Order: sequence, then C-alpha cells, then structure tokens
Amino acid sequence: MDPREEIQSLLGGEPLRVIAVTSGKGGVGKSTISTNLAVLVARAGSRVLLVDADLGLANADILLGIRPRHHLGDVLRLEVPVRDVLAEGPHGIRVLSAGSGLQHLTQLAELEKLRLLGALDELEEEFDFVIVDSPAGIGDNVLFFVGAAQEALLVVSPEPTSLTDAYAAVKALSQSAGVRHFDVLVNPAASEAQAREVFGKLEGITRRFLEAQLSYAGHLPRDENVHRAVMSQRPVVDAYPLSPVSRALEGVVANLLRRPPPTRLDGGLKFLWHRLMLESAARARA
Ligand SMILES: Nc1ncnc2c1ncn2[C@@H]1O[C@H](COP(=O)(O)OP(=O)(O)OP(=O)(O)O)[C@@H](O)[C@H]1O
Ligand SMILES: [Mg+2]
Repeated sequence: MDPREEIQSLLGGEPLRVIAVTSGKGGVGKSTISTNLAVLVARAGSRVLLVDADLGLANADILLGIRPRHHLGDVLRLEVPVRDVLAEGPHGIRVLSAGSGLQHLTQLAELEKLRLLGALDELEEEFDFVIVDSPAGIGDNVLFFVGAAQEALLVVSPEPTSLTDAYAAVKALSQSAGVRHFDVLVNPAASEAQAREVFGKLEGITRRFLEAQLSYAGHLPRDENVHRAVMSQRPVVDAYPLSPVSRALEGVVANLLRRPPPTRLDGGLKFLWHRLMLESAARARA
C-alpha cells in the first residue's frame, strides 16, 4: 500500500500516543524528525501536540517557521495558562515550546516538573498524538521526558561515536527511566544494508547486556532537501514531498503506526504523569 494511504488508514480511533524522539549524541536529526513526524500525522488528520523539550536551544519552532509568544517557563511560573502557551504551526499542529536558551529550564526542579505535568494534564482530551523533541544525551530532563512518553524513537547515525552514545542512552533510559522498548531510526544512512548493520550492532549488544527491546524503524538517506527546507523554514515533507527523505519519513511513520503502542495508556496522559510522579518520588527517597 502507498505509505500515505497506509498512514491514513492506521490513524483514527486509536488512544493517545506519546512518542519521544531521542538520541545519545547530539545533531543526529531529532528536531528534523520530530517536526516532520508531526506534520505527517497531522496531515493525515490527527490532532498533534509537539513538545519542544530541547531545553537548551529550542528549534522545532524555527523548523516550522513559527514564533511562539510564550514558553514553558511562563507555565511553570504560573503566569500563563498552558492553553495560551501553545503556538499554532502548519496543519493545526500545536507547539509547546521550551523557549530558547532558558538555562534555568535545563535544570527543572522536582516541583516545577510536577507543575509542568499538571499543566499538561489539562490537555488530555485535546490531542491524539504527542511528539516530544528531546534534548540530546542522558541528562535528568531527558530521563524525565522520555520516561514519561510511552514510546521512544531513538535516532542513531552510523558513526561509531553515535552508536556508543546510543547504547549509553538505552542503558540510562532502561535502567533509570523504565523505558523497555525503543524504535531505532538510522539517520543518515547510505543504504538500507548499512542501516540494518548499524541496528544489528546496537541490538546485539543491547540484548546481551540490557533489559530493553529494540525494533528497526527504518532509515533516512542524506538528502540536500533537508537543508533547503530548513532555509525556507518549512518542514521538508511539505516543501519537498517527493524527495527521497520525505518518502523515507513516510515509511517510518507507517512502520511506527503499524505496530500498536508497546504499553497501552489506559488512563491516558493522566495515568502516565501520575506513574511518573510516583517513580520520581520513589527515586527521591532512594
Ligand atoms: N537526512 C538528512 N539529510 C541531510 N541533512 C540532515 C538530515 N538529517 C538531519 N540533517 C541536518 O543535520 C543537522 C542536525 O539536525 P537536527 O537539528 O534535526 O538534529 P538534532 O538531533 O535535533 O540536534 P540537537 O541534538 O542539537 O538538538 C541539521 O542541519 C539538519 O538539517
Ligand atoms: Mg534538536
């Protein structure tokens, strides 16, 4: 089936899905992938919230060509209701921005995290899809955001350092944040064979030493259109829908949707936030 038709047919009637896009090493394409995933599912009719949790240097807004007037900091200070903080991007995508260069946000205190979760709770009914663009690495905030999502999409580049960093991320996320399943996306890959090889290495070592399961979600080719799209501040799947990278992104989304979410979120977002609070409280006591 054509991936576009398949995405359409796989959406609808499903419970809320929360996917965090993460990586060990920085600069491997998380923001590019998050924004384009958001566009693809929104274009197929889902209500999408993109959480730009890239706390140091927010850039999902730039990639989508929008200028949020408020950010997470305003919510945390209780100055602005969360609804007013959401900027509107293309295809009705709403964006919750961490704000650029807000250093204090990179070290959210426990109380601020709970406030943030409480604020997000309000949005429970309004979205079908939440995509979190997380910061690189394995800082506390990454553990927090990715642990809160039900699915983790791990972006890996074929460079050896990226692989080691990806392994470190799987280790930290599985051992400290309870993430048991990862979808792995190789970006950029010279070929499917190369991507499968990269995945195979990561999967082999993970199976040997860690309690986490990895699935192959696909690969993206290196494509100049990504850069051209950034320059025009449009998502590449909108600006160059027929380019190799856009086709590949459609395939990845179809792969993700084809599989039911690994953990059912029976209580929706609330369940998720509350589980998270219990876990962080338990960790604080330990
Ligand atoms: N498949 C691709 N082909 C060509 N360029 C790409 C591709 N994927 C990403 N890029 C480019 O690589 C750079 C890094 O991408 P991006 O900002 O999405 O990474 P990131 O993981 O979000 O980085 P950070 O860790 O700093 O948040 C950008 O200049 C982007 O345009
Ligand atoms: Mg980024």
